[in-house]
Amino acid sequence: MTVKERYFISQKDCHKREEIIMCGIVGYNGKNSVTDLLLDSLELLEYRGYDSAGLATMNANTGKVKLRKCAGRVKDLRKICAKDKKISTCGIGHTRWATHGGVSDLNAHPHRVGDVLLVHNGIVENYEELKDHFMLHKDLKSQTDTEVVAAVLNRFYQGDPHEAIRKTVKYLKGTFALVIMFTDQPDVIYAIRNVSPIVAAYNDNGTMLASDVVALGATADKYMVVPEYVIMELHKDEIKLFDLNDKPVEADMIDIDWDTTRGGKGKYPFYMEKEIMEQPDALRATMQSRVVNGKIDLSADGVPDEILKDCERVCVVACGTAMHAGLVAKALVQSKLGMHMNVEYASEFMYSDPVIDEKTLVLAISQSGETIDTLEALKYARKKGAKSVAVINVKGSSIARESDYVMYTVAGPEIAVASTKAYTTQLMALFLLVGRMAKVRGIFDDATEKAYLDSLTKAPDKMQEVLDQKHDIHKIAREMLDAKDAFMIGRGLDYSILLEGALKLKEISYIHTEAYASGELKHGTIALITENTPVVATVTQSKLKEKELSNIREVQSRGASVVVFVKEDFDLADAEYADVFELPAMEDEFMVFPASAALQLLAYYVSMDKGLDVDKPRNLAKVVTVE
Ligand code: F6R
Repeated sequence: MTVKERYFISQKDCHKREEIIMCGIVGYNGKNSVTDLLLDSLELLEYRGYDSAGLATMNANTGKVKLRKCAGRVKDLRKICAKDKKISTCGIGHTRWATHGGVSDLNAHPHRVGDVLLVHNGIVENYEELKDHFMLHKDLKSQTDTEVVAAVLNRFYQGDPHEAIRKTVKYLKGTFALVIMFTDQPDVIYAIRNVSPIVAAYNDNGTMLASDVVALGATADKYMVVPEYVIMELHKDEIKLFDLNDKPVEADMIDIDWDTTRGGKGKYPFYMEKEIMEQPDALRATMQSRVVNGKIDLSADGVPDEILKDCERVCVVACGTAMHAGLVAKALVQSKLGMHMNVEYASEFMYSDPVIDEKTLVLAISQSGETIDTLEALKYARKKGAKSVAVINVKGSSIARESDYVMYTVAGPEIAVASTKAYTTQLMALFLLVGRMAKVRGIFDDATEKAYLDSLTKAPDKMQEVLDQKHDIHKIAREMLDAKDAFMIGRGLDYSILLEGALKLKEISYIHTEAYASGELKHGTIALITENTPVVATVTQSKLKEKELSNIREVQSRGASVVVFVKEDFDLADAEYADVFELPAMEDEFMVFPASAALQLLAYYVSMDKGLDVDKPRNLAKVVTVE
């Protein structure tokens, strides 16, 4: 049986998908020494969680197991492993984000019970019941749900790994990616998953699995998304898949076209800066295959013109930054297409009794393609008959598989928790989609399409112009280091741009920042503006400029210290500002590209100068699979 990307054996517990954990797991079996390889891969997965880390390695000849784990980061684990000179070529690793059981050496994975070594990503909801049912209390040393699973596996293990796995997963409620070694099977790593992702790849040197393709690093040029409820065996020279009746299964291989993973942070101190700087190229790459002979063409994505032409309403479901990209698309859809468009927080979508039918086009926007709120909102909309296009960065991810059609952004891997190039490539994909909609609905003729594309083509260069002036933005950032609160104000598209700018600043600098529709300030919030309150304003929209300037004057007269990011050909009149940064001019609706780059840099430098961990802000993980 060939497993297509949409193949799922069981969806029955979909409604219970409350996966909170964002841990990272890896496994390798091959010719190479495994310890450094696993540590390097775990470091790439630290965005998924970084409160403890661990490795279990096995000597393929003797079956001797080494288990090393600790509370702390992968770099702490690396120190422990440095003492070990023995070479193993088979092992599993884990970087944890604690949910069940606090942060401690004991709760770190892998867990060992009897013959079983296990790492786990996900949450087993019924672990307390399982403890009682199998009377496991004496077997357990930690407070984790994972150790309970290891103990159940060990109970069922009588020398047949498949049988033990099959019997165990029947009892598990919740989400899981389980990666298992049995001490008497020294040459094989086993894995099985429900919802929580596992991808795998192979090359001449061995086989590897991970929670995310970024951790496969330079292992291979292709990878597979392991289907749910399929037992995977990782041998030194091949990957085998079996369904729960032990029938062999095949999975499609997907190209890895993410060369940038291989360079790490390059010359930059943080991934975030590297990713900000990569944006012009990422925008060009996202555009490239979708412009054919000077026209927008989505046929390579398989998005049929009919759904763009026939839909009567458009609705975005997305979270955080991705949702902010949706807001920009809304402005475009309403102005270019004259169509009403809803943009919903995916987490609120189902509770708002959304008006969805077969004439609705739902756009699900997500970098990771794994955000559970977005996934569930998309499913809900599809059940109501909506057609869907997902705008996704990670190939083969859950949302991509769930959607009718997918437009992949070509951002490459985004490692920093704060999204930058994923956002702007989402914008690029959405601009192209709206452009095509305008064409097939007869709103654009060839000349207007050309003018639209001409502007869009300039976006990467205009963004580059901002990036080239990063030192000027760094100077502005220095003035904000002591701020406790800040505001970002603007109207219309500027407001949408600033919602994203404010999210960036708060999540990585911990400065409480509110983006506010500047006309709304006077209805209450202006009470919070006092002497020297930092206020950031963008002024990029011709029709809003005068009103925005007047709102700026309102906060200035209450003592605010205002930094303005202004379209270069706008006249700011004579007012005094704390700082002014001129954004390279484009047609108004495209100003989001240069303005976003400027606001990303602002947040980046504030965070960096405050000495914070820019790439891994507190309390946040990159992939949010909690409802
Ligand atoms: C903020 C950020 C988040 C994500 C959100 C959705 O910088 O990255 O707000 O945008 O968690 O994630 P994806 O796009 O993976 O669905």
